[in-house]
Amino acid sequence: MSRSAHPAGPRHADVLPEGHPSAPPADLNHLDPKVWASTVARTPDGVVTVGGVEVTALAEEFGTPAYLIDEVDFRERARAWRTAFGADADVFYAGKAFLSRAVVRWLHDEGLNLDVCSGGELTTALSAGMPADRIAFHGNNKSVDEIETAIRAGVGRIVLDSFQEIVRVAHIAQSLGKRQRVQIRITVGVEAHTHEFIATAHEDQKFGIPLAGGQAAEAVRRALQLDGLELIGIHSHIGSQIFDMSGFEVAAHRVVGLLKDIRDEHGIELPEIDLGGGLGIAYTSADDPREPHEIAKALHEIVSRECEGARLRTPRISVEPGRAIVGPTAFTLYEVGTIKPLDGLRTYVSVDGGMSDNIRTALYDAEYSVALVSRTSEAAPMLVRVVGKHCESGDIVVKDAFLPADLAPGDLIAVPATGAYCRSMASNYNHALRPPVVAVREGEARVIVRRETEEDLLRLDVG
Ligand code: LLP
Repeated sequence: MSRSAHPAGPRHADVLPEGHPSAPPADLNHLDPKVWASTVARTPDGVVTVGGVEVTALAEEFGTPAYLIDEVDFRERARAWRTAFGADADVFYAGKAFLSRAVVRWLHDEGLNLDVCSGGELTTALSAGMPADRIAFHGNNKSVDEIETAIRAGVGRIVLDSFQEIVRVAHIAQSLGKRQRVQIRITVGVEAHTHEFIATAHEDQKFGIPLAGGQAAEAVRRALQLDGLELIGIHSHIGSQIFDMSGFEVAAHRVVGLLKDIRDEHGIELPEIDLGGGLGIAYTSADDPREPHEIAKALHEIVSRECEGARLRTPRISVEPGRAIVGPTAFTLYEVGTIKPLDGLRTYVSVDGGMSDNIRTALYDAEYSVALVSRTSEAAPMLVRVVGKHCESGDIVVKDAFLPADLAPGDLIAVPATGAYCRSMASNYNHALRPPVVAVREGEARVIVRRETEEDLLRLDVG
């Protein structure tokens, strides 16, 4: 990149390292609404606010790092999904993205159902009042205890993931004198265009029962024979952070194909199909996600068309968005610590968190953006890498971004779009204390998940 393309004159590099953002944004103080929660704004003094509260006040009251979640935005997104899919479909929020009791209550208020994938998520959901029949229970290796708890609680569906589980769930249900509503998760053989670790519909992986070789048809045969099970449908989840609808199209085509085969073989039409979650969000300004109404329209059309072709009644559709609801509604607030310019390379900006509160960059090579939020600055852009305070060099929060060159220790910076898979995948690496989640709404902030303390760490250390 030449100096003229970068008029501010990078203080570190005439030749920028490979993989750097192509150019600094025109205005470093601008907060792109694509990546920031909907109530985020700046005061005339330049301080960023969320839900009408200044981040400087939030940092003072709750400390940093902290996840700040915009309750109004969360509810709006949840409602948008609910409304887009309408009364003849169900939206199950995927709790793995982020779950807390406040979130369960918001979902309940907004008419969404909930997908859980562990005993812990189930307990959280039930303890916050989510009716069990609105809960779907997932997982490729549910324990006997988890299955028993789920059936006793009366969950609306268990998504069966293996041949062994078909028998196990049937047996447990029967021993409890119940008939459990179930779906069978199949892998349809789609290569979703996303990171390998979060693609889930190709056959060579741990989830689901392959459609290939007649295995899914055999699973259906077995499930239909067992008294403890009521088979209500087929489930497919093709992966996560997907923008391209073609994967869903192929998945729907194959799932409907199986429904047709089931009708032909058994004379029954299963009433439901679940197309999973996986819709992408904007992590940086370069991403262009689809709106829920476009997704709903596309999925409804695909399924109806396929069913018409197969002369099947259109089944009730369900979807399981996690990231697309919670991801954009939160950001992580950090305080800048040390700043280390490396000549000819970039400037390392260290923050008071890191891979313990956001593992996604290290794990998936995820892209994030970052902004100075405690003030504005007219200084030149400098190419930075935002890193944490952990003892490893892969502890990167934002690989490449621009921050103003007058950045100083004590400034507050924030990384947007961290609502999904950040707090839920947070760790205690280096005995870091997991940050709180603070919900902000109409000028009020309240802690919904408190910061971990050293006492919390010591309480578990019973040796
Ligand atoms: N349904 C099922 C069966 C799933 O396995 C998942 C995600 C979802 C729904 C929700 O997917 P979403 O709409 O949130 O993309 N930790 C990774 C994502 C793993 C997703 C696992 N399953 C990440 O940080 O990107």
